Amino acid sequence: MSDRAILERGLLTEPGRTDLRLEYAELLAAEGAYGDALRQYDLALESDDSLASAHVGAARCLIALRRTKEAARRYTKARRLPGFQPAAELEELLEEANARPFRVIHGREKGTADIVDIRAYLPPSIGFDDVVGMDAIKRTLRMQIVEPFLNPALFRRYEKKVGGGVLLYGPPGCGKTLLARALATECRAEFIPVAIGDVLSVWLGMSEANLAELFVHARATAPSVLFFDELDALGCSRAKASSETARTVVNEFLAQLDGFESNDGVLVLAATNMPWDVDPAMKRPGRFDRQIFVAPPDVNARAKMLAMKLADVPVEPFGYRELARRLPHYSGADIDGLVDQAKEYALDEMLQSGQERPLGLRDFQRALEHTEPSMLEWLDTARERVSSSSGERRYKEVADYLRDAQPY
Ligand SMILES: Nc1ncnc2c1ncn2[C@@H]1O[C@H](COP(=O)(O)OP(=O)(O)O)[C@@H](O)[C@H]1O
Ligand SMILES: [Mg+2]
Repeated sequence: MSDRAILERGLLTEPGRTDLRLEYAELLAAEGAYGDALRQYDLALESDDSLASAHVGAARCLIALRRTKEAARRYTKARRLPGFQPAAELEELLEEANARPFRVIHGREKGTADIVDIRAYLPPSIGFDDVVGMDAIKRTLRMQIVEPFLNPALFRRYEKKVGGGVLLYGPPGCGKTLLARALATECRAEFIPVAIGDVLSVWLGMSEANLAELFVHARATAPSVLFFDELDALGCSRAKASSETARTVVNEFLAQLDGFESNDGVLVLAATNMPWDVDPAMKRPGRFDRQIFVAPPDVNARAKMLAMKLADVPVEPFGYRELARRLPHYSGADIDGLVDQAKEYALDEMLQSGQERPLGLRDFQRALEHTEPSMLEWLDTARERVSSSSGERRYKEVADYLRDAQPY
């Protein structure tokens, strides 16, 4: 029996098998039956609309069917879904179709460039209330950023400086990106995230004109927050940069930052796990001169995170605080992972037994046996970096944190 016949028979007996259906769709597309393939992708999406690969597959079919606009919409949708994998040929075709609102050129040669769509990363709006803990930081940001941003005239009258960049630093998974998004919302500003690590080749290949375009876009959409995630990646690239291009790009970046005083309504934020790898030139006055340590959550914050993440789930009552106490060095992201794992164990059991039951402490105990905090390596590195007296001075808050931290 041919592959195709096997798949068709499988789908006949188990029409809900999305994996089979996707395989079948791929096979049809490979045979050039794009219309049929498209129908299969759509059927798969009927049961789960979040399948990135199905949307990408559908976009490919639509391109083949010369329905470019629809293809662009599908592909743009796929970009926002988990598990999305870019398809170079679609990026290129879509560039020609000019279907997207804003782009950065990826790669050296314009003709062969991949395209990164910045707007595709736009997150739903998240405010300070969605960020657990960090009360002192939120207060500082409100006073130093949000209020000046919302009342520029008042602050100017008192000759209080408005503008300048803010660098958020701290261990991974502890809410830097989350906080940056929340800050944009609080400022009622458009959030424009740029993940430097993901798109480093963009940076290296990006001409100054493209970089300038990013800032121009920020100014044009003001009030806006331009957010550079993983800023250290840029610093590293400069240190290692042998090419003239890379240096030019970094210098252009610095020049754009310096020009920011005159750019009303644009706030520049950056984040890094590795502040010690950030080019010192970035930290000069007027650039990222305000640096904020986003510490790991304490026991109260961890308990609150558990409560928040379990708010809409059937849970048998148990003390979140008690559990939180057993999670030293767990980041917010680690807690997300733990909750997920616990749910998985519980659901697995429910499916086995056929009986629904609430999530309980024992699911978490089981999950705990299989997880580890992800920031231990960061803590080691940080300890090393603050061990010198200059390191201790520069990263005093980190040093203070490490002094009181529980051993691991
Ligand atoms: N303070 C927090 N409050 C609520 N959720 C958090 C917090 N810190 C981290 N998280 C969770 O962990 C995820 C990862 O956090 P993120 O902001 O990406 O970390 P970072 O940028 O510091 O690496 C967030 O999407 C969120 O679900
Ligand atoms: Mg982040």
